[in-house]
Amino acid sequence: MRVLLVGGSGTIGREVAAALKAQGLDVVEVSRHTRPLSVDLAQPESIRAMYAALGRVDAVVSAAGEAKFAPLAQLGDGDFELSLRNKLMGQVNLVRFGLPNLNDGGSFTLTSGVLARSPMPGSAAISLVNAGLEGFTRAAALEAPRGIRVNVVSPPWVTETLRALKMPGEGLPAAQVARAYVRSVTGQETGAVIEP
Ligand SMILES: NC(=O)c1ccc[n+]([C@@H]2O[C@H](COP(=O)([O-])OP(=O)(O)OC[C@H]3O[C@@H](n4cnc5c(N)ncnc54)[C@H](OP(=O)(O)O)[C@@H]3O)[C@@H](O)[C@H]2O)c1
Repeated sequence: MRVLLVGGSGTIGREVAAALKAQGLDVVEVSRHTRPLSVDLAQPESIRAMYAALGRVDAVVSAAGEAKFAPLAQLGDGDFELSLRNKLMGQVNLVRFGLPNLNDGGSFTLTSGVLARSPMPGSAAISLVNAGLEGFTRAAALEAPRGIRVNVVSPPWVTETLRALKMPGEGLPAAQVARAYVRSVTGQETGAVIEP
């Protein structure tokens, strides 16, 4: 099975790549800094160009997407635009533009996050985007052709991220979060919001 993984060098993505490879899957990793194949989720033409160069795959997994964390009163137009363009529409466009590249019975797995359902001060833009991704996934799964499945993983705070940000709490290790992506790729679920 050939899998495109967007964001395979990230905190979550590294573990997703390792977990997918441990299943014997052929993983093609892309992000802004990979070569020869790269992608910038914030640029629709970049997503189209990546798919044109990629050929057919059995699964597309996204462990990427940026949205702005800041107090509501400080979130400007540009912050909302960045969040919508990057994490929300970047991943929506991975599905929209990627359908022709997917083999029958293939799957898309996107990433939202815990702030969709458990917000905190500063998370307004991220909560908006995460909830949007979950709504999109439930709806898109109903219309995906040729047995193609669409799921979204909604990770809790990741242990490594909390430590890096010097934030309190335990979180869930990225290696455990990664299991949810494997479940989405290798299982039968569709339209699911998977909470590791
Ligand atoms: N970490 C957490 O605690 C946590 C919790 C809940 C949800 N999430 C969500 O999970 C996702 C991954 O989080 P993370 O902490 O693993 O992120 P991360 O460590 O910052 O890694 C991000 C990955 O995405 C790539 N990337 C960044 N911007 C991109 C773009 N515009 N186009 C294509 N690739 C891009 C990066 O590579 P390049 O720099 O080469 O592009 C990198 O591989 C995010 O959507 C985040 O909101 C994270």
